[in-house]
Amino acid sequence: MNAGQTHGARHVAIIMDGNGRWAKKRHLPHAVGHQRGVEAVRTISRAARAMGLEALTLYAFSTENWRRPEDEVSALMGLLKRFIQSDLDEFVRDNVKLKIIGEWRALAPDIVALIDDALAKTAANTGCTLVVALNYGAQDEIARAAAKAAEKGAITPAAIEAELDTADLPPLDLLIRTSGEVRLSNFLLWQAAYAEMWFTDVLWPDFKPEHLQAALAHFGQRERRYGGR
Ligand code: IPE
Ligand code: IPE
Ligand code: MG
Repeated sequence: MNAGQTHGARHVAIIMDGNGRWAKKRHLPHAVGHQRGVEAVRTISRAARAMGLEALTLYAFSTENWRRPEDEVSALMGLLKRFIQSDLDEFVRDNVKLKIIGEWRALAPDIVALIDDALAKTAANTGCTLVVALNYGAQDEIARAAAKAAEKGAITPAAIEAELDTADLPPLDLLIRTSGEVRLSNFLLWQAAYAEMWFTDVLWPDFKPEHLQAALAHFGQRERRYGGR
C-alpha cells in the first residue's frame, strides 16, 4: 500500500450525490447525470486502487431511493447492470475484489444473478475491495446485525459490529459527501462513529481524483483521538 498517497487511510466511503443537479444545470435529463455519475465511479475507483486504498465504499442506491419515480429507478438499475457487465473483466484483471452491502438480494433476479457471478469471479482477488452499497440503509443494517447478535447471545457493540455487512472491511477512516449536502442519509451510521468527514460542493459527476487526493490530504492532517487525549 502507498501510505504516502492515502495519508494512512485504508477505507474511504463516498455518498455520491448531485447527479440530478449536475444534469439540471445543463438542461439535460436526470438520467444523463446518473450516466456521468457512472463515469465518475469508474475514474474514482481506478484512482483509489492506484493510490493503494484497501477499500472504497460507494453509496449507489439507498433503501429510501425506491421513493423515486419508477423510470428513474429502472434507469439506475439498468446503469448498474451495464456497469457490472462492462467492468467485470477489468476488476478480474486488476485484482479488484467486489463486495456488495445492503439488501441486494431483494433486487431483480437478473441483477442478483449478475452480482453473484461478479462476486464469484473476484472472490479470490486480493487488491482493493470495491464495496457497492445497494438497497442499503444503515438502520436496516444495524437492525439485521442486532437480530443476528441476539440469536447468538448478548447484544453488545462488539457482537453487533461483528454482524454488520462491513464486518470484514478495515475500519472506516474517511467519509466523503459530494454536492454540498451535509447529512448522512442513512449511510454507514455505525461505521462513521470515529470516521473523519469531508463535505464538498462538487457534484458527483464532476468529482475527480484530485478531489479524492484533497480529501485524503485533509484526513492526513487530522489528529484522531477516539475520545482520549
Ligand atoms: C445521487 O444523485 C445518485 C443517487 C441517489 C443514486 P441524485 O440523483 O441524488 O442527485 P441530486 O441530489 O438530485 O442532485
Ligand atoms: C444519498 O443521496 C443516497 C445515495 C447517494 C445513493 P440522496 O440524494 O438519496 O439523499 P437525500 O435524499 O438528499 O438525503
Ligand atoms: Mg441527491
